[in-house]
Amino acid sequence: MQSTQTKKLVYITRQVPEPAVSMLREKGYEVFVGTSDRPPTKKEVIKALRKRPYDAVLCLLTDQIDADVFDAAPQAKIFANYAVGFNNIDITEAKKRGIHVTNTPGTLMDDAVADHTIALMLAVVNRIVEGDRFVRAKKYRGWSPTLYLGSLLEGKTLGLVGLGRIGSSVAKRARLGFGMNILYHDLHENKEVEEKFQAKRSGSVEELLKTADVVSLHVPLLPETTHLINKERLSMMKPTAYLINTARGPVVDEKALLDSLKNEVIAGAALDVFEFEPKLVRGLARLKNAVFTPHIASATKEVREEMSQMAASNIVAVLEGGSPIHPAS
Ligand code: GLV
Ligand code: GLV
Repeated sequence: MQSTQTKKLVYITRQVPEPAVSMLREKGYEVFVGTSDRPPTKKEVIKALRKRPYDAVLCLLTDQIDADVFDAAPQAKIFANYAVGFNNIDITEAKKRGIHVTNTPGTLMDDAVADHTIALMLAVVNRIVEGDRFVRAKKYRGWSPTLYLGSLLEGKTLGLVGLGRIGSSVAKRARLGFGMNILYHDLHENKEVEEKFQAKRSGSVEELLKTADVVSLHVPLLPETTHLINKERLSMMKPTAYLINTARGPVVDEKALLDSLKNEVIAGAALDVFEFEPKLVRGLARLKNAVFTPHIASATKEVREEMSQMAASNIVAVLEGGSPIHPAS
């Protein structure tokens, strides 16, 4: 029988859906799970990690993982992020220390985020949320030719900033489902999406912004993509255009977005992520031409289980002496 001392120790910063915990326990690892029902602070994570010599950590996108956290878990070989994005982890510092960082880029995730992107697009373009509020407020007095006019998507141009896995899934839905023209900006040419969905690559973000009727963001958060959508670029968009963000909040200068929505520089925006999450910049929540969801683009049962399975598999791979399956860079 293994003694407790030789058992591998895994820390999970907060409860996640199965199968992660059972997969890790089946391997014989001892698993400890943070009990907080809100995102733990960095201090709380550090305090928890100091309690035992953990071999692996499963962390969430709300956990800021940097040198201080790595110091608190000097034995940890891997930080498996329960997310597709990993801007919450200091990758450079992890590399320096030889710590593996992994993410959860699953196909169900691509579909879920793409579905949510389309849902947000329809919600803002067809004024679903405004209409819902109006009905609930008992203001509806009967059909009117001019009540809450939206616009059609057929034949309109969807500008995708970032055409990776998620951007491509959005392109598929927008093209096949809604007959939209697909324009994209990405460092890489995506021949497959160009052929399948008649997507056209734009020479620059600026050109895309000037042309698109709906702009949707699908880039990771990096120094180069922080405030990619700023005041100047918002002013290049058509006054009839909409902005959708299911990527990361800081890709958009939220204060600049607030101003451009207020001044009708653009027609509307739909956001699942926020620059200062979970807070919204002051005044944003009062705008009628904006729709919000609380970072739930991947929030389906199937995806959250797939993410759990992937994160645990990465931990198992590394603790069994192999390479991680989904290295984050
Ligand atoms: C969600 O935002 C994720 O990165 O998985
Ligand atoms: C709308 O309800 C219509 O019949 O045009």
